Amino acid sequence: MDDLKAKYLSQIADAADEAALEAIRVAAVGKKGEVALKMRELGKMTPEERQVMGPKLNALKDEINSALSAKKSALADAALDERLRSEWLDVTLPSRPTRRGSLHPISQVQEEITAIFAEMGFSVAEGPRIDTDWYNFDALNIPGHHPARAEMDTFYMHRDAGDNRPPHVLRTHTSPVQIRSMEKMGAPLRIICPGGVYRADYDQTHTPMFHQVEGLALDKDISMANLKWVLEEFCRSFFEIDDVELRFRASHFPFTEPSAEVDIRCSWDGGALKIGEGDDWMEILGSGMVHPKVIAAGGIDPDVYQGFAFGIGIDRLAMLKYGIPDLRAFFDSDLRWLRHYGFSALDLPTLHGGLSR
Ligand code: DAH
Repeated sequence: MDDLKAKYLSQIADAADEAALEAIRVAAVGKKGEVALKMRELGKMTPEERQVMGPKLNALKDEINSALSAKKSALADAALDERLRSEWLDVTLPSRPTRRGSLHPISQVQEEITAIFAEMGFSVAEGPRIDTDWYNFDALNIPGHHPARAEMDTFYMHRDAGDNRPPHVLRTHTSPVQIRSMEKMGAPLRIICPGGVYRADYDQTHTPMFHQVEGLALDKDISMANLKWVLEEFCRSFFEIDDVELRFRASHFPFTEPSAEVDIRCSWDGGALKIGEGDDWMEILGSGMVHPKVIAAGGIDPDVYQGFAFGIGIDRLAMLKYGIPDLRAFFDSDLRWLRHYGFSALDLPTLHGGLSR
């Protein structure tokens, strides 16, 4: 019995893993194990022998069992230790320098524009990119026969024969958001509406989808002077130079009366564009006093309220400010271009913190 004990205890001590331990358990104290076989021999013994051997065998069995379970938990501990060692992770290590995403110049410029107008009390309004031709045209005093409809190279949504819903278009400008905002919020009102617009046109300065920001201010005592101040203030802040000079040139839009296109003084010395100096003028936006018919279409009494509106091309402004020569590159999704012209996603432009540091 001492031999059995010595044999199994040393095997248990040497067991390398749980599987080996289980094999030892079966061989030693399993139903057909060596200890069980010895137990069976008890039947052939005399009662005196049995009284001596019985307790000894039980003690042996207990001893082997407790050695097995001690070894089993030692093996489990060792396995856990090993896992902890191999899966160890230093959470204090700095992260690896991976390439981060960046803000597209259009998003950046949109944030800048929003920051500037927010400071002047304008909030941001949005409208659908697919709109009815009523919002996109009629409500803006562009009736069906008006040449402006043809000029805009409008994308019309497909309609099945017999479809009686009003015709829908991909909005050709952000001006329909003027109407929707008037309907929703009434007057007085001070909003900008940035967003994508669509026209069937494609060359170095035109893409079928581009971006505008519409502005609208309605109140009882708003004049062209307010428009001029707001736009000058905007350009000064946006181009981050004190001496911007704007030229208001008489123009015509169906939705404003009077209407003005606004040019900014610039120079093209050596092919590089400089804003605020030189003898050239660059058109940057359209504007005017909102036509009474447009105010009425928005559900507001034009005898009580009047106001100004403007429409600026966001992509155009981005090209001017950041010296980006080809509009088409904005929409190519070329990562090298984005890395070059992109902005840190964590630097929110603010007037006090700087727009484009
Ligand atoms: N909607 C015009 C366009 O897309 C831009 C525009 C001009 C908007 C004058 C205005 C405005 O609000 O007053 O060409």
